[in-house]
Amino acid sequence: MQNKIKVVEVGPRDGLQNENKIWSIAERIQMIDLLSQCGFGEIEVGSFVSPKWVPQMADTEAVYQKIHKTPDCRYSVLVPNQKGMDTALTYNVRDISIFTAASEAFNQKNINCSIEESFERFTPLLHQAKDHNIRVRGYVSCVIECPFSGKVSPTLVATVAERLWQLGCAEISLGDTIGKGTPESTVAMLQAVQERVPLERLAIHCHDTYGRAVENIEAALAEGVMTIDSAITGLGGCPYGGENAKGNVATEAVLALLDRKQLQHSLNAVAIEKARQYVLSYS
Ligand code: HMG
Ligand code: MG
Repeated sequence: MQNKIKVVEVGPRDGLQNENKIWSIAERIQMIDLLSQCGFGEIEVGSFVSPKWVPQMADTEAVYQKIHKTPDCRYSVLVPNQKGMDTALTYNVRDISIFTAASEAFNQKNINCSIEESFERFTPLLHQAKDHNIRVRGYVSCVIECPFSGKVSPTLVATVAERLWQLGCAEISLGDTIGKGTPESTVAMLQAVQERVPLERLAIHCHDTYGRAVENIEAALAEGVMTIDSAITGLGGCPYGGENAKGNVATEAVLALLDRKQLQHSLNAVAIEKARQYVLSYS
């Protein structure tokens, strides 16, 4: 079992997908190469989604091919459907993430299908991933609240998370997409989910819309969660999460929290500052 807290850097995907400025391939590569020096367990490189839906993530395959990958870090790409999976296979991507939600309304806006249909899409992808020894991470969005349909029941989150787990996802990331979580609602949700999915397989993915992400992560750590998603400089959001989806928790805030709690991690503060300065100078 891991004894260090693992941090998953989602800035190049969840961050840049929501920026007005479209970063060039070279800028994205430079950003990821700087992030590769920071000690993350995983970096999300981008998405193989429709460029009409998310133009910021076009050309992810070129970025994936040209980044300098370090052996201790996973480099993952979001895949929504068979077309995305075909691209992942063509470019020999070793780590993919699939994504669904605990809200029907959000799923329709985000991937144009129901929760049930999303599982119909994922099932063959998971078989292909297994055949090609590709690790799959599964996201559940709207684990606290949906921007379109309001509060989400922890039981529904647990059901969706369990289905992803049973399909073969190695890790399930629980997304507070619009940052409406509190420490209490975060813990209530985690308690429901960990009845159905082993705690060591869960990650917490907090957006900082209302400035509560750090305290929610602190509550999740106290609950025993060992994997945290964050984005350098707090870039990002979800293009289909409405105005309220802006801002992932900042990686540097997570680093400060881990140090304050004296928790073991692999992050390098100097490299994070360098990456942070780079992103600030470009955004
Ligand atoms: P659709 O319109 O239903 O798909 O979209 P379609 O199969 O009818 O295809 C429409 C067009 O898209 C076609 O092109 C396809 O070829 C193309 P056209 O014939 O019109 O020229 N297309 C693709 N192109 C590239 N790669 C693909 C692909 N698939 C189809 N994989 C679809 C369905 C899933 C494609 C669309 O809804 C989509 O791309 N959605 C992505 C939305 C997205 O990326 N959202 C952000 C990520 S999720 C998130 O941020 C939340 C998270 O951070 C956790 C949290 O915070 O909660 C993970
Ligand atoms: Mg997100």
